[in-house]
Amino acid sequence: MSEKSETLASLSHEERRYAPPEDLVAQANVTQATYDEAAADRLGFWEKAAERLEWGQRWDRVLDWDDPPFAKWFVGGTLNASYNCVDRHVEAGHGDRVAIHWVGEPEDDTRDITYAQLKDEVSQAANALSDMGVGKGDLVAIYMPMIPETAIAMLACARLGAIHTVVFGGFSSDALASRVLDCGAKVIVTSDGGYRRGAPSGLKPAVDEAVAKVAQEKPDLVTNVLVVRRTGQDVEWNDDLDVWWHDAVGGASTEHTPEQMDAEHPLFVMYTSGTTGKPKGILHTTGGYLTQTAYTHWATFDLKPETDVYWTAADIGWITGHSYIVYGPLANGTTSVMYEGTPDTPHKGRWWEIVEKYGVTILYCAPTAIRTFMKWGAEIPAEHDLSSLRVLGSVGEPINPEAYVWYRDTIGGGTAPVMDTWWQTETGGHMITPLPGVTHGKPGSAMTPFPGISAEVVDDEGTPVGNGEGGLLVITEPWPAMLRTLWGDDERFKETYWSRFADQGYYFAGDGAKKDEDGDLWLLGRVDDVMNVSGHRMSTTEIESALVSHPKVAEAAVVGAADETTGQAVCAFVILRESALAGGEEASDDLIQELRMHVQKEIGAIAKPRQVMVVPELPKTRSGKIMRRLLKDVAENREVGDVTTLADSTVMDLIKEGSSSGS
Ligand code: PRX
Repeated sequence: MSEKSETLASLSHEERRYAPPEDLVAQANVTQATYDEAAADRLGFWEKAAERLEWGQRWDRVLDWDDPPFAKWFVGGTLNASYNCVDRHVEAGHGDRVAIHWVGEPEDDTRDITYAQLKDEVSQAANALSDMGVGKGDLVAIYMPMIPETAIAMLACARLGAIHTVVFGGFSSDALASRVLDCGAKVIVTSDGGYRRGAPSGLKPAVDEAVAKVAQEKPDLVTNVLVVRRTGQDVEWNDDLDVWWHDAVGGASTEHTPEQMDAEHPLFVMYTSGTTGKPKGILHTTGGYLTQTAYTHWATFDLKPETDVYWTAADIGWITGHSYIVYGPLANGTTSVMYEGTPDTPHKGRWWEIVEKYGVTILYCAPTAIRTFMKWGAEIPAEHDLSSLRVLGSVGEPINPEAYVWYRDTIGGGTAPVMDTWWQTETGGHMITPLPGVTHGKPGSAMTPFPGISAEVVDDEGTPVGNGEGGLLVITEPWPAMLRTLWGDDERFKETYWSRFADQGYYFAGDGAKKDEDGDLWLLGRVDDVMNVSGHRMSTTEIESALVSHPKVAEAAVVGAADETTGQAVCAFVILRESALAGGEEASDDLIQELRMHVQKEIGAIAKPRQVMVVPELPKTRSGKIMRRLLKDVAENREVGDVTTLADSTVMDLIKEGSSSGS
């Protein structure tokens, strides 16, 4: 039985069901009527959702799908995302409401920022960027820790119509350089460093390296680096490029008039891993993206902006942070918590201390965090009053039923419903999720498509499967926050997402899924060479390229092996070069450490393999394709599966011998 079908079989034994809490149902933002309305008039439903935003000019047409797969939403409409996230709340009399309760990693290092203060700082940052020559359509890279200035810089860009690309602060200088080059960013916003696990860690040195690399290819591209002082550590300074945030932004005017942008004006590019080594620049535009993130944030979490305190415990450097720390919550006038550090600094109860202190009512995080807390033990959250929590969310990877039930019981006091939200960088916002006032929760199932979203599970031919059957997840109709293309690569956009079911015109998500007996959806993970480590997407090929770039490595194959805490873990199989072997380095611990650190340097710490196994051969088919499935069996200590399609079926014996010696 394949791994997928084993999962299917075990999941179908899950019998626990949770009804929505009655008090929540009584005042729910969304009811069954919303599903019915959306089913009767999908475009009319999204039109109403868009009306929740403030537009300069109203659209003439909700959707233009005349040239698929290139969608245009709210055609002819104009709006400014930054105005919608900031100014309009101040104008509506909510200037004193806290927008962000920011919590630094060092204890007592906190800031509360009201909407009025946010408006001033975003305006100042927009004026400062504008003084640096940043205008409509220019690209700005943001490489930052989790500090308020990260969100402020994004909103400042949106205000000007500049397109931001946020690069996760844990990525390497190489990753930053390649993204800056790919999108042509002229300004980089960064900080001296941030706090991580109790100590300051530098960011500016990586920017300096990246700027030098970029200059080799495009000497005139980067014209300024805007640097926030966060840790106070010493940094190298280049007077031609570097500008302190506190000088440029701090000294700027707090008056700035946002310009109305076309609904289809690009808002940001977010790079994500694909099945090849080269990251894809996912392009999101303004009107549709803001409509769907704001509406889903309000509906999925039953958000009451006047009373809720909302916390997405994720990094702004990922799509979850873009949509559900910055754009969705701020567009709704939410009071949010933003936390800089790791969950165990300075102690393992840090999250629960924060929930208690701020009275967090809605918490949104990844299953990997929940599994880590399970491992640490229920007695840690039990020391805190978590009774304020009323809705919980999960994102980034399948949540296993045990983690779901633990989350609900131990963190949610046995009453807070768990919203298992399935979506992607590409989809921009929630696509498949329960709704807290409507859906009966089933541990492990993301349940049903969001109102106005059309998803199906199909077989290889694109025919919908029946209840109780598995297949591939597709989205059958365009949706407002869908990616518009891949930055600078329309062909790759068509090929990656729209070619698999070209006849039907379906978007292929890359995930396997199952419909249970009731027709509810269970997401089963990726069906391609993309891994999911702690809810972060990694490309096997990208890590393989990093390994092969090491002088001692001849060939590499990477697989994601099941891991109790991180969902999947990176396991690498490498063949060493003759020269390395001649030096007597065979699989020494030092060499393995060196290879792990090499991947960290090339891509970032999150890509560092858990295991590196030195092997004499890799299993290949006659056409030369690496059979990762077999390597996965080895990495997961399973009986190795069918080897009949291998060019040389004895290879697996050699690998098994090799893997037991070096890891
Ligand atoms: O495999 C699915 C998994 O994460 C992938 C998208 O990754 P990324 O673009 O980095 O976005 C993560 C945050 C939205 C999907 O193709 N995934 C995401 N959410 C879930 C999930 N798998 C199962 N259940 C989920 N709730």
